[in-house]
Amino acid sequence: MNNPPRKLPKTASVAIPQAGAKLHAPSAARNVEPILRAITPYVPASGRALEIASGTGEHVARYAAAFPQLQWQPTDIEPARLASIDAWGEGLSNLLPAKPLDASQPGWAAAWPKQDLILFSNLLHLISDAEAIMVLEEATLALVSGGVFIIYGPFLRGDKFASEGDHRFHESLHGQDPDIGYKSYQWVQGIVSSAGLGCAPLIELPANNLLLVARKP
Ligand SMILES: C[S@@+](CC[C@H](N)C(=O)[O-])C[C@H]1O[C@@H](n2cnc3c(N)ncnc32)[C@H](O)[C@@H]1O
Repeated sequence: MNNPPRKLPKTASVAIPQAGAKLHAPSAARNVEPILRAITPYVPASGRALEIASGTGEHVARYAAAFPQLQWQPTDIEPARLASIDAWGEGLSNLLPAKPLDASQPGWAAAWPKQDLILFSNLLHLISDAEAIMVLEEATLALVSGGVFIIYGPFLRGDKFASEGDHRFHESLHGQDPDIGYKSYQWVQGIVSSAGLGCAPLIELPANNLLLVARKP
């Protein structure tokens, strides 16, 4: 069974209603092109791509258009987001209808096996450490051998925030829910490495965000 949705500050997951079912996240519109450029060298030549926590769907629609060689499966924990994802993806034949997925639940990898690419953005700071571990470990299980795992978002560098703004954002999250907040990229890479994946060099993106890339042997 899914966990109840967490109480988050308004700034944590912005989704502004647009025409039809579309929701719009200004941050997604801002960061999609830098993410796209950064992931391009790692995107597999063919196969299945699973996006976790697709949000409004603006990212996955852009990815599916940019990488037509892959079949893209968007997902999110919030049923209300699925219609928006489908609306952004209208007309893209390589983008499957969005499906519900709580990626912090144990065992989900068995229902989503043989993924050539799994990616998500802006999720780990919104969930607890235990939930983050589950997301990361299940994703590594769902990948095929040679599959690529890509994570984008805000991270601590060791125990340091990249900026005052990051520190304030973390405090606002933690104030709403003491279980959640920023994780260090080293902690994430440690979990992914322990699960047997090889980490590529860290990629710095605008607004102090990081892109972590790992590959399953
Ligand atoms: C800040 S939004 C990011 C959306 C999108 N990835 C982006 O970067 O624009 C966080 C998203 O994570 C989803 N989410 C939260 N907990 C989740 C979970 N346990 N499993 C899957 N999705 C989750 C929320 O519903 C929301 O759509």
